Amino acid sequence: MPLMGIEIPEQIAGFLENITGRVRIMVVGRPDTGKSTLAFLLASWLQDRGRTCAVVDCDIGQADIGPPGFVSYGLINQSAPVANMRADSMSWGGSRPGTERIEGSSLARRSISRTGSYLVGDVSPYGRGDARLLAMVAGASACVEAAERDGAEAVVVDTTGLALFSEGIRLKCAKADAVRPDVVVLLSPVSGGRNSAEEVLGHLLEAQGHNVLRVPASAEARKRSPEERRENRIRQWNRYLEKSSLHRLDLGKVHVFRWWADSGFLVRTEESSQSSLPAQDTGAHGHLPVPPAGANAGAPYVGLVLPAAARSVSHGTVVAIPDPHLRGLHIPGIWVTDELGPGILAALPPQHKIETVWVTSYQTLISRGRVMSG
Ligand SMILES: Nc1ncnc2c1ncn2[C@@H]1O[C@H](COP(=O)(O)OP(=O)(O)OP(=O)(O)O)[C@@H](O)[C@H]1O
Ligand SMILES: [Mg+2]
Repeated sequence: MPLMGIEIPEQIAGFLENITGRVRIMVVGRPDTGKSTLAFLLASWLQDRGRTCAVVDCDIGQADIGPPGFVSYGLINQSAPVANMRADSMSWGGSRPGTERIEGSSLARRSISRTGSYLVGDVSPYGRGDARLLAMVAGASACVEAAERDGAEAVVVDTTGLALFSEGIRLKCAKADAVRPDVVVLLSPVSGGRNSAEEVLGHLLEAQGHNVLRVPASAEARKRSPEERRENRIRQWNRYLEKSSLHRLDLGKVHVFRWWADSGFLVRTEESSQSSLPAQDTGAHGHLPVPPAGANAGAPYVGLVLPAAARSVSHGTVVAIPDPHLRGLHIPGIWVTDELGPGILAALPPQHKIETVWVTSYQTLISRGRVMSG
């Protein structure tokens, strides 16, 4: 059933109607301006006009497609049940009496299945210097390319809320430079006052050669409390875990690496495991040992396998496994330890041998295969 009644902002519709080939659209704006809802509506609108559409979800905090902490993508299902929604319930702009609330996230849940993910490793892009920002940019770009390889003709990139400081603005610019969207839709709050962060971002994007469409945020967009955001994260993890199974680990064979290299990247080899490394450096949370000064010079600290680090990864740690089918992407997972030893809950074929695991410092509380905290 066609979705002819979906209203999307006029400027965007006008722009998209003139595009014939492949199209990439990136949606940016502050938290709670309706980015995810608009991203999803745009993808549905384009799908309805005969394009195969994908959404790339860079919103690592309020992920709709994959688990939190990952950039994920998926194609819109052909028979999206969203078609059953009343067309007039999908308004953009002013509120109408009797209008149903549109939840971008619930629409995404009903009509997009996750195809691929890229590890970022936390639910906020900020706070670890450039490491997380790099992963977010790499993830956005890798997912857009993978979606197009899967046949998407239109890719809509949803992003995290724009922070009002320079790091956030730089992140959006770098992401746009990496993704090279045909259009960046910049949502501005309808506060009536000047939105200087949006002005700066819009200007910088244009200076970089990007095409920016400035659109007022929907009056229907509402603020979500930290509690609601936490609940969303728990729900997204448990949604992912429904399709997961437990994969036992052979610690003698698995290569364990920290995703961020801030506490030592070079690791000792098995042969050097009796070395004089201080014991605390192999401690909790999967931290790899820090090589002593001068170790960067080479062997034995350029090794791979680190059973000691693997043994120290805590129950509930978010990890990722290189995706065997999508080069450069990752399979999300949660490291669990029980009386039978360690294993990883992940959506992998049961026979898949796990050889390399990226460990994050993102912890969840996990009980009987379900995530209890986000
Ligand atoms: N056009 C709309 N009509 C009705 N409700 C809307 C609309 N746009 C957004 N909302 C509601 O406002 C809330 C925030 O919207 P959304 O999640 O799309 O914002 P966001 O900018 O992606 O937020 P975040 O920065 O946290 O990712 C949601 O509960 C959503 O249902
Ligand atoms: Mg969002």
